[in-house]
Amino acid sequence: MSISQECDKNKLPIGVFDSGVGGLTVVREIMRQIPNERIVYFGDTARVPYGSKSRETVTKYSRQILRFLKAQGVKAIVVACNTASAYALEQLEEETDLPMLGVVKPGAKTAVQATHNGKIGVIATEGTIGSEIYTRYIEQLNRGMEVLGKACPLFVPLVEEGLLEDPVTDEIAQRYLSSLKDSGIDTLILGCTHYPLIRSTVKRVMGEGVTLVNPAYETARELKELLDQKQLLCEKRPSLGTNQYQFYVSDGAEKFQHFANSIFKYGILSAKQINIEEY
Ligand code: DGL
Repeated sequence: MSISQECDKNKLPIGVFDSGVGGLTVVREIMRQIPNERIVYFGDTARVPYGSKSRETVTKYSRQILRFLKAQGVKAIVVACNTASAYALEQLEEETDLPMLGVVKPGAKTAVQATHNGKIGVIATEGTIGSEIYTRYIEQLNRGMEVLGKACPLFVPLVEEGLLEDPVTDEIAQRYLSSLKDSGIDTLILGCTHYPLIRSTVKRVMGEGVTLVNPAYETARELKELLDQKQLLCEKRPSLGTNQYQFYVSDGAEKFQHFANSIFKYGILSAKQINIEEY
């Protein structure tokens, strides 16, 4: 490959996907840690939630999204959805030669580093908890850890409804988290990309003694490392203005845009609806 081709490759965007808006918490972190990179985001808003669907369905959806992102010419993929990372990542990695990263391994690693008493809680979708993927990765890192999982399926619709600071969310959080609170964990993984958006509610319920882990931070750090290893980091900020970040959804582009603008402090642009079934 010539030097100019290599440079052009560095300028290609990173593909990031999630079942909906949750992956924006990962995008936010990527923007912060590697601001020169372009991003193409896909949120599968027509088919959310993934958390209650089967492995086969989530893998089929993830494959379609991978094809869509590849068609956008991305240089790497971030699976910014815990459920898709749990169910489909290993399969997708076998099927593509693009560098690829999920959010579960980085989250597990951060939790193992953070815990003092070796008791780690995980809150996530039914799919992620049922797959026991966090337990598997944590045990690979340290066999002495105790991992307690709790599915919190109502958190996703509460976030999607924008009830980030609301008595209803507080009440549901009390119910979901009381057993984890009594279990003596000192570290809790926010194992669903929607959950960092209700971090303050979870913190209030769990108390100061429990460290909350948002896998997005470590994911963005590992992505930077991966791109660097593959010599794919973009050295200079592209002069594309708002086009540096492109957002696609499978439904409800306007609602998505509104939500995204409440997360990113500066105005994002626009989101385009596409037919993901075509991929
Ligand atoms: N973003 C998904 C995850 O991280 C949760 C939402 C869903 O159930 O699709 O698992």
